[in-house]
Parts: sequence; C-alpha cells; structure tokens
Amino acid sequence: MLKDGALKGKTIIITGGGTGLGKSMGKYMLELGANLVITSRKEDVLNSTSEELMKLTGGKVLPVACDVRKYEEIQNVIKKTEEEFGQIHGVLNNAAGNFISPTERLSHRAFDIVVDIVLKGTYYFTLAAGKNWIAKKQPGTFLNIVTTYAWTGSGYVVPSACSKAGVLALTRSLAVEWAKYNIRSNAIAPGPFPTEGAWSRLLPGDLVKKFDPAERIPLKRVGEHTELANLAAYLMSDFSAYINGEVITIDGGEWLRNGGEFSHLEHIPETMWDQLEKNRK
Ligand code: HXC
Ligand code: NAP
Repeated sequence: MLKDGALKGKTIIITGGGTGLGKSMGKYMLELGANLVITSRKEDVLNSTSEELMKLTGGKVLPVACDVRKYEEIQNVIKKTEEEFGQIHGVLNNAAGNFISPTERLSHRAFDIVVDIVLKGTYYFTLAAGKNWIAKKQPGTFLNIVTTYAWTGSGYVVPSACSKAGVLALTRSLAVEWAKYNIRSNAIAPGPFPTEGAWSRLLPGDLVKKFDPAERIPLKRVGEHTELANLAAYLMSDFSAYINGEVITIDGGEWLRNGGEFSHLEHIPETMWDQLEKNRK
C-alpha cells in the first residue's frame, strides 16, 4: 500500500515478532525499508524467522530473545538494538498470551499469566522505550495491538479482555502525556485473523468447525495478514504523523454487527420481507 522506501532508515522493534501477525507486519515493514528487531521467548523461532525474512526481503533483522515480563531483558533489547542500528524509531507491542476458559475454572496463576504477558509486558516495554526516548530527546512511535473486546469486554477470555482494556487506556493516556516529547501512541484492534497461535488456543479441537468466525462478520470472511500489515506500516510511518491516541478497528464490521440490536434480521429471507411489506400495506 505504501510507497517503496516509506520506512527507510527507521528501526522498529516488534514484540512477539517471530510468529503470526507480528511476523507478517514485520515482513511488510522490511519490504518498506525498515530495520527490524524481533523479540519473544523462543530464541530458535526468532532465529529461523530472521533468516527467512532476511532472505525474502533483503532487509536486516536482529533477533533478541526477551520475556516481556522481565524489565532487564527489555532493557537488553533496547541496548542491543542501539548497538546494531543506532536509534530506535518505533515499538510495536504485539506479544500476547491467551486461551479460552470459563472464568470460574481459572486459577489465579492462569489469570496472572495472561495479564503479565499482555498488560505488564506492554507497559514494561513502553516504560523502558519511552524513558530512553525522553532521555535522548528522540521522537518515537508506539503501536499497540489490542482487539475489539478491549471496550466491549468478553466472557471466556476475561484475563485477555482486562489486559487489552488496560493497554488501550495506556495508549490513550500516553498519547496525551508524551506528545510533548514527540512520542505518538496508537492502537490497532483486529478482529479474527488466522494464526496458529490464536486458532490453536481460541478455537481448539472441533470448535473451529462448530464456530466459523467468518459467520459473525458482515463481510463474511476473516482478515488477511497483508490488510493488517498495511495498516500497521501506515501507523508506524511518518504519513500518519498527526494520528495520536487513536485505536483503529480492522474487523470487517464484526463488533458493530454483534452489538447491533437488529443485526439478526439478516437471517430473514427476501420472501419474508415481501410478506411483511404486503401486511404493512
Ligand atoms: C485454563 C490454563 C490454560 C487453559 C494454561 N493454563 N492454559 N488454564 N485453560 N487453556 C493455566 C495453567 O494451568 C497454569 O496454571 C497457568 O495457566 C500457566 O500455564 P503454563 O502452561 O505454565 O504457562 P506458559 O507455558 O507460560 O504458557 C503461557 C500461555 C500459552 C499463555 C498459557 O498459551 C502461551 O505461551 N501463549 C503465547 C501465545 C498466545 O497465547 N497466542 C495467542 C494470542 S491470540 P496453574 O494454576 O495450573 O499453575 C489473541 C487473540 C485475541 O490474543 C483476539 C481474538 C479475536
Ligand atoms: P501468536 O503468533 O501466538 O503471537 C504471540 C506472540 O507473543 C508469540 O510470538 C509469542 O512468542 C509471543 N509471546 C508470548 N509470551 C511472551 C512473553 N512473555 N515475552 C515475549 N513474547 C511473548 O498470535 P497472533 O495471533 O499473531 O497474535 C499477535 C497479536 O495480535 C496479539 O497481541 C493478539 O492478542 C493480537 N490479536 C490477534 C488476533 C487474531 O485473530 N490472530 C485478533 C486480535 C488481536 P514466544 O512464545 O516465543 O514467546
């Protein structure tokens, strides 16, 4: 979508960048000329993704293992990134943990594990990168991946819903507070985009056959990774320099449809509408 070289000279860190959506967004950013740093817990996955993406795009990728729940490991990512590329321009907070469960079946440790990765991991990375930018008087861009239940809430993924809501509040709060330092903060709220990580945990076993996510979506399909990558690259680029504190939904109309009082009327066939019209007249 963006012009060639739209991210040339920019260095972007993507948490959870070795798999799924993080990997797809990273690939497009590389194609647009960015240097990429990908982090997550699994070093082997990061290394093979780096190799693959460098071969595919000819860009530079630095893999650095980091658990976003550990502040010192985040500081190490920042240090390694600056040693390799000089300045950091953007941080894409994308790492997450999630699974479905009735809330009463969760142990407090299970609740913690998701909140620690999603909410704590995001504010840890934000704090470390933000302090670094402020101290060095450098501008920066945060892009945080949430989802639409950050504002609707959702049963069965309650730790994730609480965490994503917190990340959205963080995004909006810092967009205002840190604008004076030339630091922008935005979020993207995707609907369903197929990834191994999400599908295996949110639609395990036969659930994928029983609950086709496309059925809930007015456009009757799930998202394509390139569609999300286009939006993420735009929000990371200088073309979006005046967008700050925004959350952009990319879900084919899903959340509005499922909140709409009369959305179910789409199941009424044309013949029944004809009959209703006759009755009215
Ligand atoms: C209930 C569970 C559980 C499950 C784990 N636990 N899985 N409880 N149902 N399915 C409990 C365990 O019993 C344990 O509690 C505690 O959680 C920690 O579990 P571990 O397996 O030790 O944790 P760990 O190995 O660190 O794995 C973390 C994880 C895992 C979050 C559980 O799924 C993971 O690594 N996820 C990373 C990637 C990911 O989740 N991607 C999907 C993002 S999709 P006890 O009490 O027994 O000790 C997404 C989409 C949002 O966010 C929107 C979609 C539209
Ligand atoms: P994914 O491939 O499972 O991505 C999650 C990533 O987070 C993994 O690379 C994982 O790598 C990393 N991670 C987990 N715990 C971590 C930790 N403690 N420290 C560092 N990294 C950690 O799933 P995805 O679908 O691409 O999800 C990406 C983002 O999109 C998430 O924020 C998710 O909530 C959001 N999202 C996804 C969808 C969807 O339909 N797919 C919809 C809405 C929002 P390691 O295991 O190596 O650590």
